[in-house]
Amino acid sequence: MGKVILSCSGSGGTGKTTFAVNLGTAAALRGLKVLIVDMNIGRRNADIYLGMEDRILFDLGDVISGLCKLDKAIIQHDVCEDLYLLSCPQFRDIDGIGPGHIKALYGALRERFDLVIVDCPVSVSGVLRIFSCGADAALMLTTPDYLSVRNTEALSEKLEVLGVTELYYAINRMDRSYPDNDAVPDLSFITKSINVPLVGIITEDITIHSANNSGCPIALVSGSDMAHRFSDMVARLIN
Ligand SMILES: Nc1ncnc2c1ncn2[C@@H]1O[C@H](COP(=O)(O)OP(=O)(O)OP(=O)(O)O)[C@@H](O)[C@H]1O
Ligand SMILES: [Mg+2]
Repeated sequence: MGKVILSCSGSGGTGKTTFAVNLGTAAALRGLKVLIVDMNIGRRNADIYLGMEDRILFDLGDVISGLCKLDKAIIQHDVCEDLYLLSCPQFRDIDGIGPGHIKALYGALRERFDLVIVDCPVSVSGVLRIFSCGADAALMLTTPDYLSVRNTEALSEKLEVLGVTELYYAINRMDRSYPDNDAVPDLSFITKSINVPLVGIITEDITIHSANNSGCPIALVSGSDMAHRFSDMVARLIN
């Protein structure tokens, strides 16, 4: 049985999609059969970071509405053969989607994949209640700013109330050039504030941004520092 992990955050733009795509790639390179589910209904984005935007015929909305079977909406990555994507509608909502649909979906996906990473939208109460239903774990992304750290603490409490108790976080866009004072939160402040295991730190790096935009995940660059970092995080998340 596979594991369903949410890539989520309490603030926008913290790196949820970047982590979903690169952790998924790193896990597939470790030999796991991996699915990335894009849960950004109405504004999907994982397809672009994976270079798969021209290949989507069916999506989660078609599965929920009964237009197609689950397996038909799941597409395999061109280069990384153990990596798959289940996308969602680009410009429309999925009418009537609720926690029951999501719980059933995760159950079906656990039987097909070793690891399912759900790329979540900003995780505020209403949508969080829906897409967290039946998930096994959550990786919360924070950036080194006070707002993001506070929102991560709040998200962690909400997830626990909703029954997702295996919680981790990672710090994205850390930058060594930040001043060594309280102007921005440092590592010690962040680790004291967020009271769940830290699985990794990714620095601010233009190569990540370029890789996202060119549709070639940075974790695919074998032997690179970033590939190692994402691979190490996968090991911490699945063990
Ligand atoms: N470590 C990094 N270094 C440089 N750029 C980054 C890094 N991580 C993410 N980015 C860039 O920051 C932007 C936001 O990243 P991403 O799309 O992964 O965030 P998100 O949390 O999924 O956003 P949203 O809330 O809109 O879904 C993107 O332009 C991405 O390329
Ligand atoms: Mg995103």
